[in-house]
Amino acid sequence: MRSTIMHSLGWLLAALVPFAADAASVAQQEFTSVLRCKPDLAHGESLFETCAACHGADGAGASDGSVPAIAAQPVRYLARELIDYRHDQRWDLRMRHFTDVHHLSSTQDVADLAAYMASLKPTRSSGQGSGEYLQYGARVYARLCASCHGAAAEGDARKGDPRLAGQHYEYLLRQLHDAVEGRRPNFPRSHKRLLERLQRPELTGLADYLSRLGA
Ligand code: HEC
Ligand code: HEC
Repeated sequence: MRSTIMHSLGWLLAALVPFAADAASVAQQEFTSVLRCKPDLAHGESLFETCAACHGADGAGASDGSVPAIAAQPVRYLARELIDYRHDQRWDLRMRHFTDVHHLSSTQDVADLAAYMASLKPTRSSGQGSGEYLQYGARVYARLCASCHGAAAEGDARKGDPRLAGQHYEYLLRQLHDAVEGRRPNFPRSHKRLLERLQRPELTGLADYLSRLGA
């Protein structure tokens, strides 16, 4: 019985692995082609009307962290996330729906939207933590995170490392836990390992510290 199950599982995995690899390589190709497009900001702005229903016209998201701030993120990061949602490399049903081919029919659409969101002014969050582990978070950030995300957590446009300054506390905390617990499949493995070393007070302090950084 057990060997039959193992055998069937083996077949299932063999069938799924190429599928997953395909989705990842289609996503990679699409990303490369988005970066080659010449963005049209006015078209990006008109596409963003649908998105503004949740993310807000200024891209500030919701302070309770249910919807992230997306203003002033690097183009490369925004393009990557939109593509990842539509190819199941990052999981969220709402974002899967709004990035599918019915909403964004071409790589040009993705490029226009990413450029428009990147051009929005950075926003501030009013969704912050209790302050209890703030100093702790600031120290861990400088030691382990600033090299990529920037000294003021402003992100890195060239490499596409996301901006974390002014992002909502609850959203940040959820992403940190999701990444560690494997619910964010597009997270680089080395990043997941870095976060796995941190304890709860460190994660809480990091999210609190980052959410308070100015625009
Ligand atoms: C129904 C509400 C809703 C709509 C409409 C919506 N979003 Fe989102 N968006 C969300 C939520 C919720 C998340 C966080 C999902 C998660 O945890 O992965 C998100 C995440 C994102 C992210 C990732 C942000 C980050 O920091 O990683 C980007 C980029 C984004 N949305 C852009 C868009 C764009 C562009 C559109 C329009 C085409 C859009 N969204 C429409 C709710 C929405
Ligand atoms: C080697 C560079 C690097 C280091 C070091 C690093 N990050 Fe990241 N981080 C990234 C990249 C790249 C992404 C985008 C991952 C993806 O594709 O979704 C990311 C994504 C994130 C996100 C998700 C942002 C969002 O909008 O959803 C959070 C939160 C985050 N990092 C926090 C941290 C923290 C906290 C540390 C330090 C403990 C850290 N990172 C260290 C490169 C780095």
